[in-house]
Amino acid sequence: MCGVVGFVGKRACADILVKALKNLEYRGYDSAGIAVFENEKIKTVKAKGKIREGLEEKLKKEPPLNAVCGIGHTRWATHGEPSDVNSHPIGNERISIVHNGIIENYREIKSFLIGKGYEFESETDTETVAKLLDHYYKGDPIKAIERVIGVIEGAYALGIIFKDHKNTIYAVRKDSPLIVGKGNGESFIASDMTAILEYTREYYCLERGEIAMLDGSGIHFTDLHGEPVEKELLTAEWDVESAQKGGYEHFMLKEIHEQPDAIRNTISPRVKDGMPDFSECGLTDEKLRSYKHIFIVGCGSAMHAGMAGKYLIEAVARTPVIVDIASEFRYRDPLVAEGDLAVIVSQSGETADTLEALKLSKAKGADTLAIVNVVGSSIAREADMVIYTNAGPEISVCSTKAYAVQTAFMYLFAFQIAYVRGKIDGSRCRELVKGLLEVPEKISECLEDMSQYQFAASKIFNADSLLYIGRGLDNALSMEGSLKLKEISYIHSEAYAAGELKHGTISLIEEGTPVIAVMTQNALKEKMISNVRTVKSRGAKVIIICRSSEKIDEDCADYKVGLPDADDIFLPLVSSAAMQLIAYYTAVQRGCDVDKPRNLAKSVTVE
Ligand code: G6P
Repeated sequence: MCGVVGFVGKRACADILVKALKNLEYRGYDSAGIAVFENEKIKTVKAKGKIREGLEEKLKKEPPLNAVCGIGHTRWATHGEPSDVNSHPIGNERISIVHNGIIENYREIKSFLIGKGYEFESETDTETVAKLLDHYYKGDPIKAIERVIGVIEGAYALGIIFKDHKNTIYAVRKDSPLIVGKGNGESFIASDMTAILEYTREYYCLERGEIAMLDGSGIHFTDLHGEPVEKELLTAEWDVESAQKGGYEHFMLKEIHEQPDAIRNTISPRVKDGMPDFSECGLTDEKLRSYKHIFIVGCGSAMHAGMAGKYLIEAVARTPVIVDIASEFRYRDPLVAEGDLAVIVSQSGETADTLEALKLSKAKGADTLAIVNVVGSSIAREADMVIYTNAGPEISVCSTKAYAVQTAFMYLFAFQIAYVRGKIDGSRCRELVKGLLEVPEKISECLEDMSQYQFAASKIFNADSLLYIGRGLDNALSMEGSLKLKEISYIHSEAYAAGELKHGTISLIEEGTPVIAVMTQNALKEKMISNVRTVKSRGAKVIIICRSSEKIDEDCADYKVGLPDADDIFLPLVSSAAMQLIAYYTAVQRGCDVDKPRNLAKSVTVE
């Protein structure tokens, strides 16, 4: 997803902008560019492709830039193919802009501007904003921005420079992320703090209806009428090191290893005297007792965490839960209403469909609870109640630790609902919470030796397609295991309820088809063994993920990935680390770009 950066200071800024853009590479992009004030002009350099091969190569061919102020962008194509001309910054000799988001009414604006004699070069929606600014600009940037904001519809985070307001950046946003960083005698704009952590940890959150102006004298905020706005300076807790690889070959591997701590950081602050406690966010016992329906909504891995939540809440709290994909939920006139709780799950807190699902739930009168990792993100700000998952920055595009903490939260949530609704007593609740607090240790045990995951990966890395099978919670969690594998290794994979296989999907099994069977549920063991034997007898190569202590006959499964022992309810969460590692080593063995899989973006801020 597009990334926006900007810098004003006393140092030459081209390298700083490029570095900041590289820090945003994880968001996914297909072109990059910068525009800076150079010799009384706006100088733009932009190129299709990766920063290293495109933008940096072009910059090397230019005379060195001395500019001390500029804006930069990584573009993830939505309107118009990835190309030099569609790359940002976009504008003319007077104005240049970078944009993250989508301008929904760009066609109307384009026809209006064509009527005024403007000609368009790119296929982007962004160019309409640049030209509209040019149309309204009569020497006062704030007035021009105010006019433009009144016309454009959709989501935007904009960084803007005007040639005759040298070394000054203007920024404005609605529904797309943008922070303003305060350094030592220098200022930044960025889509998120990861971009600028090596320069500063102090930042402001720009709100809708505010304009930020950054110049040599500092950072100034106004409302759309130019009236000054006082804002609180915040400090990012994330340090540079935590946003870097820390010695691991990939961010994904690092983030898998961070899961034990991440789970502790999510769960421990919400446990008081051994019992779940959500009072920090206003989710009282009384509210939890009163909700008529519980909806859980998210996209991708976040939705899968919701699926685990459904299994857990229904099993422990005997309360029905509706789980939905945000892009479906928002357009199917869902039955969510006053008296219901909508739990909105998102790592980034910026996913467009998820944000809209939240707004819709609110509009229909439901209480909204956001389970979000990024502090101050749009979903966090919009929801009635927020639980921050405290996982730290997740850089790898495919989610691992963020999924783990969302799922861990679902456990605690299920226990609390069960307790306040009288489905378990205090001592059982304490016992369950204690078990959850032991999960990080079990995951650490799983992370001690990588050889069994590497071995399993070596057995599947050249497959075209495979199946994950499981029952109960294993089925819910293997949906995520399967998604990991296809996201990063590009091997087609399906997660299937083991008992449902015989109703169609079993026809896919032929000699050598890999099947990964997840079997952590003692209560369902006999059923699973029989499903495994069924696929094995049809030629499948079976890798079984189960307790290390489990005795598995050779004629049942080909290979075993062993897990430490834990109660049935907790072992699936432990097994998810094993599934992530199998996906990881499979992608590595196939030579895939693990942290930046093709076609995927970390934060999908458009529909
Ligand atoms: C993208 C990412 C997924 C993620 C999904 C939802 O598709 O590639 O890994 O699960 O968005 O993101 P969110 O930030 O809302 O959790």
